[in-house]
Amino acid sequence: MALLNILCYPDSRLHKVATPVTTFDEKLRKLVADMLETMYEAQGVGLAATQVDVHQRLVVLDTSEERNQATVLVNPEITWYSEERVKGEEGCLSVPGIYDGVERAVAVKVKAADEHGQVRELEAEGLMAVCVQHEMDHLMGKVFVEYLSPLKRNRIKTKMLKAQKEDA
Ligand code: NI
Repeated sequence: MALLNILCYPDSRLHKVATPVTTFDEKLRKLVADMLETMYEAQGVGLAATQVDVHQRLVVLDTSEERNQATVLVNPEITWYSEERVKGEEGCLSVPGIYDGVERAVAVKVKAADEHGQVRELEAEGLMAVCVQHEMDHLMGKVFVEYLSPLKRNRIKTKMLKAQKEDA
């Protein structure tokens, strides 16, 4: 396994739209293993392939306290959203140190394959539901800060660019 480099906002590659996975092979399973290792190392609850510059519809997540319940979503589609929505604080491994409120459906049903191509439907609520919606946005090239006001977003952009300059 290997740690992957996570793209940081406002990297333009975070806005690429992912295409469906068509081949369920060892290469895909290696990518899934590397993404899980990268997510756990970064102490994140979810990671989309887009964030590691692979533009395929693939997401990994683990919202368990014990960090031992990995979920792999290949070609995920949300089949149902709850009417009830709630605003909660979100963060993102691609926007380190920034947390802000985003409104999401409280529960969703998602149909997706696992890394072996087995399709199943999962129901998610609470943090897991938020995570599924957040990660699936990444696959569409959308970062959570795009839900915030232009003023806030510009402040975040400036802060990120400054931090990246200092790191370089
Ligand atoms: Ni994210």
